[in-house]
Amino acid sequence: MKLAVLGTGVAGRTLATKLVEVGHEVVMGSRDAANPRAAEWAAAHGDRAASATFTDAARSADIVVNATAGAASLAALQSAGGGALAGKVLIDVANPLDFSHGMPPSLTVCNTDSLGEQIQRAFPKTRVVKTLNTVNADVMVDPGRVPGAHVIFVSGNEAEAKRVVVDLLGAFGWPRERVVDLGGIETARGTESYLLLWVPLMQRLGGPHFNVELAR
Ligand SMILES: NC(=O)c1ccc[n+]([C@@H]2O[C@H](COP(=O)([O-])OP(=O)(O)OC[C@H]3O[C@@H](n4cnc5c(N)ncnc54)[C@H](OP(=O)(O)O)[C@@H]3O)[C@@H](O)[C@H]2O)c1
Repeated sequence: MKLAVLGTGVAGRTLATKLVEVGHEVVMGSRDAANPRAAEWAAAHGDRAASATFTDAARSADIVVNATAGAASLAALQSAGGGALAGKVLIDVANPLDFSHGMPPSLTVCNTDSLGEQIQRAFPKTRVVKTLNTVNADVMVDPGRVPGAHVIFVSGNEAEAKRVVVDLLGAFGWPRERVVDLGGIETARGTESYLLLWVPLMQRLGGPHFNVELAR
């Protein structure tokens, strides 16, 4: 498949690398076609890797990954353009974190709304699935890095879009029984708000390689 990974940070580069490793064609998108991090990533990952603007990357892809800074995701996706995103599955891994007042961070949207919902509302023809935002990038693409039957969540309005995403998660190493479908995109409120716990946990544990396991 052809995927666009919008985002040149750690999450974007880690996801893009894994997607190439499991056999997909990936265009990394950023604001600037000459973005050095994207160009360097593309040069290092062979024929199936390329870089482009947000718009050109999204336009070229069957599936789009939003790995941009949460506070800027709507702007980044607007610059990709509704036309380029229409009809496509958009995997949203972004968290609307605001570190401008120091630690702990706050959320730019929460309680009665979420970034996942804002994206779905802004792009009604796009099939938004929120997932992977509750783990560090290394764990996203290598769940075996953390021991135990820890889980990953998906939120989205469309069953078929979630099925496509669950298959991709399987290729990353997430067995189906450890993917928890929370329901519609409004359930992204919970996974995004979990970051208010995730960040202090990361500080307390001294590193980001952990995840939650469900017991009942
Ligand atoms: N890092 C992780 O382990 C991790 C784990 C879970 C979730 N996430 C989420 O994944 C997302 C990416 O995280 P990250 O740490 O990889 O990188 P980041 O620094 O949060 O985001 C980098 C990306 O955001 C874009 N961006 C920043 N400001 C922008 C603006 N004003 N307009 C348009 N685009 C803008 C940048 O564009 P340019 O390329 O053009 O500079 C870049 O591609 C975040 O939402 C984060 O919460 C990250």
